[in-house]
Amino acid sequence: MQNAKKQFNQSVVNGFKKEGMVVIDDILPLPWIDAMRYWALTTEYDPNQIYSGGYRTRDFGESYEGKPGGPFPIPELQQVIQLLSQYDILKDKRFCRGWFFIHQNKCPGVDPHADPAAINVNIWVTPDWCVEDHNKNGLKVYDTKHPDDWTWNDYNREREKIDNFIKDSNAKARKVNYKWNRGILFDSSYFHKTDSVHMKPGHHNKRINFTFMFIDKDKNAQDYI
Ligand SMILES: [Fe+2]
Repeated sequence: MQNAKKQFNQSVVNGFKKEGMVVIDDILPLPWIDAMRYWALTTEYDPNQIYSGGYRTRDFGESYEGKPGGPFPIPELQQVIQLLSQYDILKDKRFCRGWFFIHQNKCPGVDPHADPAAINVNIWVTPDWCVEDHNKNGLKVYDTKHPDDWTWNDYNREREKIDNFIKDSNAKARKVNYKWNRGILFDSSYFHKTDSVHMKPGHHNKRINFTFMFIDKDKNAQDYI
């Protein structure tokens, strides 16, 4: 058993080194997935905060210290971080910030961008039976990182600049299909985007992804901006 765990951990490290991304199915215990989904479906949102891709978001982590709900509004978030931190690939990293995105039932989703961290862990918490179009709802992770001299604003927000760079550098999109309780670990500096969203009607069917951002232990979040 111990040996199997070691082998699995090594396969994750090897996969990440080779591709810069790894997919891990059934990554979390289902009661945690349910708790995260329930929280995302029922928590209150700022009615004015809706992104153009058709999703709303709620952050968590240290920056919420002292604010309503605190840094971890549900205990499962800390349990997830503890579990993820046991992976060898994350042992020299620490959790920095996280969020969920809850998408409108049919929408484009998140535009191509990269994130200010070392490794992103994306986890889908909406069951597969909520999906209307199984060709959509996944994630596309390009095989190209943002240039070192780009600022956070360049690689996260400048839509036209990002689109042109992806086109000019001939970046290939690696498609990861949507799956309940599927985790995707990828180098945060790869451009990535939602593979558009089409779920069944109804609030409970909305596509929800959680993201946990990890940074190098010897760095600060600011170092990535
Ligand atoms: Fe992202």
